Amino acid sequence: MPGFCTAIIGATGAVGAELIRIIQEREFPVSDLRLFASERSQGKLLEFRGGKHAARALSASELKGVEVVFISAGGAVSKEYAPVLAQQGALVVDNSSAFRGDQSVPLVIPEINGHEVVGRRGIVANPNCSTIQLVLAVEPVHRIWGLERLVVATYQSVSGTGGRAMQELRAQSMAYLEGRPLEKSVYPVEIGFNLFPHIGEFGEDGLHVEERKIVQETRRFLRDESLSVTVTAVRVPVFRSHSEAVVVTTRKKTSAREVADALRSLPGICLMEGPDAHSYATPAFAEGRDEVFVGRVRDTHPEGHGISMWVVADNLRKGAALNAVQIAEHAMGLV
Ligand code: A2P
Repeated sequence: MPGFCTAIIGATGAVGAELIRIIQEREFPVSDLRLFASERSQGKLLEFRGGKHAARALSASELKGVEVVFISAGGAVSKEYAPVLAQQGALVVDNSSAFRGDQSVPLVIPEINGHEVVGRRGIVANPNCSTIQLVLAVEPVHRIWGLERLVVATYQSVSGTGGRAMQELRAQSMAYLEGRPLEKSVYPVEIGFNLFPHIGEFGEDGLHVEERKIVQETRRFLRDESLSVTVTAVRVPVFRSHSEAVVVTTRKKTSAREVADALRSLPGICLMEGPDAHSYATPAFAEGRDEVFVGRVRDTHPEGHGISMWVVADNLRKGAALNAVQIAEHAMGLV
């Protein structure tokens, strides 16, 4: 089949599985697919377009001739392989945080700045999952009314950590229900029937890694390094999809109705409207879907400078794999 020689590094992981699915669903043109994982998974069979592909152990020689590469195998793998692949002329869509702060590497949400990568080769950074859904919802508000302040609390599913964390939630939930002790290996605190505001190490400023990523990446997208962004990022016992309670203070006066009107027809966003329970999405509802669901848009300031909203998206799709494939579509001139 005509197309690009394509590789997925981290193909056996939670995001990797979704990348394989989305490449098929969107008919991304692939002439040859090479799937990589750690040595542990060498030979493991993965399905693609009705055929079985064996996972390969990662090595530079196996990556020769690859034109499009998706990397989702942690920062260390990205740091080692992305520059080599960029050097050989490939498009490298990197899902780790390794290059997101590098101003020479585009950080892209295609609905917002996809034009920046049309025809591009080399490394492009896929943003943090929580940042993607947050920025899709608030960037239009910033563009029209100007953001003065952004406060967000996130409710993040365990699939953001990866496959092992999903197993830990499953095992701890079973143990809890059966009255057995909960065994921890991935998280520092029990996740089964629990939650904790701790995603990555804490810094001296009191923020943990995830909170810092959201602050920095959001400021980069909104092109305002001094924007007041306050984040509390929480891991919750949900397998898939992240939720966010967002409050913005705008410079210019606005209203919930005007913000809803601005968001209603934007690509990538599904506005949940109506007075009943359907005016908000849940993680279960968002799972497997592509849109960022924005609901409960409401006024929070009597003088019209404050809006609250509830934002939910599938972190493995729009928060990771879908955004990555959309970046590749732009870069390879397919849209
Ligand atoms: P493996 O399944 O063999 O461990 P997740 O985010 O769900 O934990 O998945 C991480 C992905 O990254 C998996 O596909 C994992 O492979 C892969 N991976 C982890 N470390 C390496 C490595 N050093 N080289 C190649 N792939 C790796």
